[in-house]
Amino acid sequence: MPAPMVIANWKMNGSLIGNASLLHQILSGSDAFEHLEVGICPPFPYLEQVSEQVSHSRINLGAQNVSAFQSGAYTGETSAAMLKDLGCRYVLLGHSERRQLFQESDHQVAAKFEAALSAGLQPVLCIGETLEQRQREETGRVVSTQIQSVIDHVGIQGFTNAVIAYEPVWAIGTGQTATPEQAQEVHAHIRQLLTGYDASIASQVHILYGGSVNAANARSLFSQKDIDGGLVGGASLKPNDFLDICRSAS
Ligand code: 13P
Repeated sequence: MPAPMVIANWKMNGSLIGNASLLHQILSGSDAFEHLEVGICPPFPYLEQVSEQVSHSRINLGAQNVSAFQSGAYTGETSAAMLKDLGCRYVLLGHSERRQLFQESDHQVAAKFEAALSAGLQPVLCIGETLEQRQREETGRVVSTQIQSVIDHVGIQGFTNAVIAYEPVWAIGTGQTATPEQAQEVHAHIRQLLTGYDASIASQVHILYGGSVNAANARSLFSQKDIDGGLVGGASLKPNDFLDICRSAS
């Protein structure tokens, strides 16, 4: 079983002053990270600030997006090599906000996954169904398709050093968390899919749950067999809540 992992996704929130205070408070409770792998994914402009402030802690750095291209005339893009250069360990890929608001396709997500791997970053592949898809009982098919397109692009070996985050779209930022049983069912499905390709990779890959994780529900979610931790949005901006979530994972 992989060691537990909690990753904070700050989304498009923060400021130099606010981040410094948030990080200071998080670092003052760093006993919470002793038995887990922890990461923070701030917006691009704050990567260096966070990197410096967490440099003597166990907190790893991640980014929220990356270009599929390597370098050159791609105005506004940020390459995987640049993220690596800044000390990133992870990069979130295919978050539902990017899929829905910026029309990122499975194909683009797979290309970004490949770019991340070739720069030595650990991709955190975000997948999940909408409410309509769940109501039509398409959850299994949707998450399988999202994973399959990455496997088709980079092969199952690409998951040797990757993380999967199951984030049901209807649970993100809504306060409507999936029940531990609902989440476990999908996590087991994901692991089963990977097992069909490579049992050893499937047993080692982190499968995180995301979607309205908070200090009150984290423990029951993380106690499920196939839930290896969480990807946390809103609650990661509240230091005490984030620390409590980390403690719930270890
Ligand atoms: P919330 O925790 O705010 O629901 O966000 C989840 C998420 O999208 C993390 O990537």
